[in-house]
Amino acid sequence: MLSKYDALPDFQSWNAQGQAVDNIIFRLTLHSLSPLVYNSPMAPAILICDPDKDFLAAIKDAKVPNVDIFTALTEIEAQHLIVNRQNKISHTCISVDFCEPKGLPMIHFIKTHRPIMPISLVAAEPTAGFKPEELTQLHIQKVFTKPITAQQLTNDLFPGSFFELDKALAVSEGNEEAVGGTQNIEAGKLHPIDAYSFISGSKSFFDVYVKVGSDKYLMILKSGDQFDADRVASYVKKGVKSFYIKREAQQYYLQYCDKLTNALLSNQNVPVDTKSKQVVNLGDETIQYLKNFGMSELSMQTAVRFVSHTHRLVKDLKLRTNPHMSQFLARLEKSEHSTGTVIILSMLLASMKYSDENTVNCISLSGYLHDIGLFQLPKEIGEADYDTLNDEQKKVFEQHPNLGAELIAKVPNIFPLVPQVVRQHHERRNHKGYPSGLGAGQIATASEIVGIADLFHELLIRRGKEPDFNPSKFIERHYFDEFSFQTIEVFRKTFL
Ligand SMILES: [Fe+2]
Ligand SMILES: [Fe+2]
Repeated sequence: MLSKYDALPDFQSWNAQGQAVDNIIFRLTLHSLSPLVYNSPMAPAILICDPDKDFLAAIKDAKVPNVDIFTALTEIEAQHLIVNRQNKISHTCISVDFCEPKGLPMIHFIKTHRPIMPISLVAAEPTAGFKPEELTQLHIQKVFTKPITAQQLTNDLFPGSFFELDKALAVSEGNEEAVGGTQNIEAGKLHPIDAYSFISGSKSFFDVYVKVGSDKYLMILKSGDQFDADRVASYVKKGVKSFYIKREAQQYYLQYCDKLTNALLSNQNVPVDTKSKQVVNLGDETIQYLKNFGMSELSMQTAVRFVSHTHRLVKDLKLRTNPHMSQFLARLEKSEHSTGTVIILSMLLASMKYSDENTVNCISLSGYLHDIGLFQLPKEIGEADYDTLNDEQKKVFEQHPNLGAELIAKVPNIFPLVPQVVRQHHERRNHKGYPSGLGAGQIATASEIVGIADLFHELLIRRGKEPDFNPSKFIERHYFDEFSFQTIEVFRKTFL
């Protein structure tokens, strides 16, 4: 019987084995059954308000791992929990029987004291006694119907916070192919994973393939089998660049990467270089998922966690004094543009010493989603280099900040700063930007910081192709008049 701990490498033995072995191969040979306790500052926490004593007792007894559950039997209890800001509550579920009428006084109380807290209802039937438009007006995220368990609640509220082992395994069910066998599979049905970033625990949760011909794939790992590190490593040594998993498994792989990133960052024995590889990997996987499946709760929540992981990593890197810095920036030359932008942004924000974690996370999330509007454009425009487009195509391209902002504004409970920054990330104080040609005083500082991070990452990608190119000097020479003094100072302090 597989347990979720099988997914986790044994970090206790990291140093002992790690020093002598090539990093990549070493990563592939990590396997043991050692359970690792997550210690995440991001652990989701739910407040459940319900007058039913037995229901609350059952919820508390369930002890869902990695989730803090607060319960309130009375309005007074709930109000105390809400008012105390030390209680890091990320979602509230209110029973419609909690207070008359239909839980509304409690909803109102939460909206007054924690305006951006997502709220769901618990009721006997799916409408909870409201009309659909009333639920929308109240910004109710979900209505849960009883009977419901704590695990079902948390799975539904925080998709991606857990590695859904059963569902991951179910994707491979019925696949009769054995390891070493080849299969004809249409390319669109598989998802490529960078072979150097691939990491597994003691057992594989996915059928893993390598490409051996057009539409022909060789199975190298079977879901549920003991992880054969040597076999996997031998393909990396042979120069295989990508492994493939089934596209249906992509969301579970994303959950898995998220868990792994959290585990790596929480462990002091893990080298910072490995941590940064994994954070970049998570950022790239999340944006791939977003491109393939669009905006969903899973992609948004993973994006939020990626952003927060990035801040933890940057703290670890200790910026300029760290010898890993240039190596780290070199890695970003090949990362997805969204990932690279967030990491650069995170370094800039660290120099700005923002004290409010929420603001930092909002700006970073804007950085991650800044080009999401490009995915909506025809490929020949959205994926093109701006300078190669003709005037008409440029006009279409220049709409991507607006398209992205509109898309993001539809996400329930999103902070208004996020779509604003996305809309303004190409605006420049000398009016040379787009889509609105704004000028000095009209552009939010957060938008400028995202704008310069965006630009710097574009230039890092260029350095990946032209090794003599110097991105920071180039910005200094050609772009400093496009940004405010404050933004330039932050950039100088961080990168020059
Ligand atoms: Fe853009
Ligand atoms: Fe961009």
